[in-house]
Amino acid sequence: MSEGIILVTGGSRGIGAATATLLAGQGKEVVIVDIQPEPLPGGAILWPAPFDVASEGTVIAGVADIEKAHGPITGLVNAAGIFGKMHRLEKVRMEQWDREVNIDLRGTFMVARSVGVRMAARRHGAIVNVASVAGMTSGPIHAYTAAKAGVIQVTQTLAAEWGRVGVRVNAVSPGFTRTAMLEAGIASGAMNKPLMERYAAMNRMVEPVEVAQAIAWLLSPLASAVTGINLPVDCGYLAGSTWGAYGGLPQPPAS
Ligand SMILES: NC(=O)c1ccc[n+]([C@@H]2O[C@H](COP(=O)([O-])OP(=O)(O)OC[C@H]3O[C@@H](n4cnc5c(N)ncnc54)[C@H](O)[C@@H]3O)[C@@H](O)[C@H]2O)c1
Repeated sequence: MSEGIILVTGGSRGIGAATATLLAGQGKEVVIVDIQPEPLPGGAILWPAPFDVASEGTVIAGVADIEKAHGPITGLVNAAGIFGKMHRLEKVRMEQWDREVNIDLRGTFMVARSVGVRMAARRHGAIVNVASVAGMTSGPIHAYTAAKAGVIQVTQTLAAEWGRVGVRVNAVSPGFTRTAMLEAGIASGAMNKPLMERYAAMNRMVEPVEVAQAIAWLLSPLASAVTGINLPVDCGYLAGSTWGAYGGLPQPPAS
């Protein structure tokens, strides 16, 4: 079988763009789709039509058209997503809840299903869903945390569904990652950069390319026995975030 293409949703910006650029730089044939399609430098192919992962019709027709134009999809990266609006519980608007869940959870499921059934028929493929540490912790982003927990669960379910036909399905859970999405949250004052860094064991944010490297590994034959996992890529945020209750993380000795 030819190597096929890798499809990256949300590929025009942020973690999706970093992943598409890394994989294209490794010589893979990468096609990016986005609701706001913009080309990337570095060889990834742009699917020029707007591709909304929350639209079932777009996803079904789009995946078929992409395979017709570029050949079988053997790798899928579900990186399209929107960040949750921060609100006190009483202020959560259900239209906003629906929007976040529609894109982040329902969209991830629909793209994974449309691509995965094709991979399953060919008995070959790997899928990586971008979840979040927010799916494993709590925060005042009520729909987002629920949607990302759902992505982790969908990942396990699809891994079990397709394990016997050679399709692997995994998730990565980035910690706070320096993308435009996060920079906007910091600029608006909604998020506190020094605290995000301080709670991470490594005392810094994640770079988009570091998430891309984990995704590239999960897609590759190097991860041939790995399916159904959720890999945090978080500079030790999950490990370190509870230490505040014990006086904080230890500071390194002055060098
Ligand atoms: N940045 C972080 O700190 C962080 C942390 C954990 C998880 N994530 C997750 O990583 C993924 C990528 O986030 P990012 O930080 O790179 O954001 P980003 O805004 O930089 O990039 C997201 C991309 O998805 C596209 N997109 C949005 N809605 C879409 C839709 N309906 N259909 C198709 N494309 C759509 C956007 O146009 C954009 O190009 C998201 O799922 C996000 O929840 C981000």
